[in-house]
Amino acid sequence: MPDVRSMCATGLSGQMGLNGVLPWEGDQRPEFTADVARFFELTQGHVLIAGQKTIEAIPDFARRDRTLFIIRRDMEPEKVLAQFSDRVVFIGGGPVAWGAYAPFIRHWDINRLPYDGPADRWFDPAWLSAGGAQKP
Ligand SMILES: NC(=O)c1ccc[n+]([C@@H]2O[C@H](COP(=O)([O-])OP(=O)(O)OC[C@H]3O[C@@H](n4cnc5c(N)ncnc54)[C@H](OP(=O)(O)O)[C@@H]3O)[C@@H](O)[C@H]2O)c1
Repeated sequence: MPDVRSMCATGLSGQMGLNGVLPWEGDQRPEFTADVARFFELTQGHVLIAGQKTIEAIPDFARRDRTLFIIRRDMEPEKVLAQFSDRVVFIGGGPVAWGAYAPFIRHWDINRLPYDGPADRWFDPAWLSAGGAQKP
């Protein structure tokens, strides 16, 4: 089993997405631009697995220096992760993907941003206690 991690950003109430993009898309305040830069820096060289919409939103510059893999609902998480057993794997979302892969995630990196507006995708605290798939 690879080293499975997750890096995500939320608003102040757990907001994660809106109309297919980040709810704070285009916000140029330093907290927001630093969050995006840090995401691409720390996932560089590693595997990023996510749903199709999330993978399609990865900009061209970040496609060259990491492995991208689109996950589908009919794929078994154990089999997907077994393909990358010697790599660091980041689960990149969206929320249904985190729900399915949460039992395998050892390291969560959650950045709470100063956003207090609407959303249609939300963080679920139950992901952090979805036990069962890691060896004790
Ligand atoms: N704040 C953050 O850190 C963050 C990070 C990433 C994304 N987002 C936001 O989240 C939104 C995109 O996420 P999304 O969920 O709408 O689209 P998505 O990234 O395309 O993820 C949904 C897809 O995941 C696939 N999937 C994989 N395992 C699944 C499972 N067990 N059950 C169901 N589906 C599964 C399905 O693909 P198939 O239908 O092909 O099977 C489903 O359509 C955007 O608003 C984006 O900005 C936020």
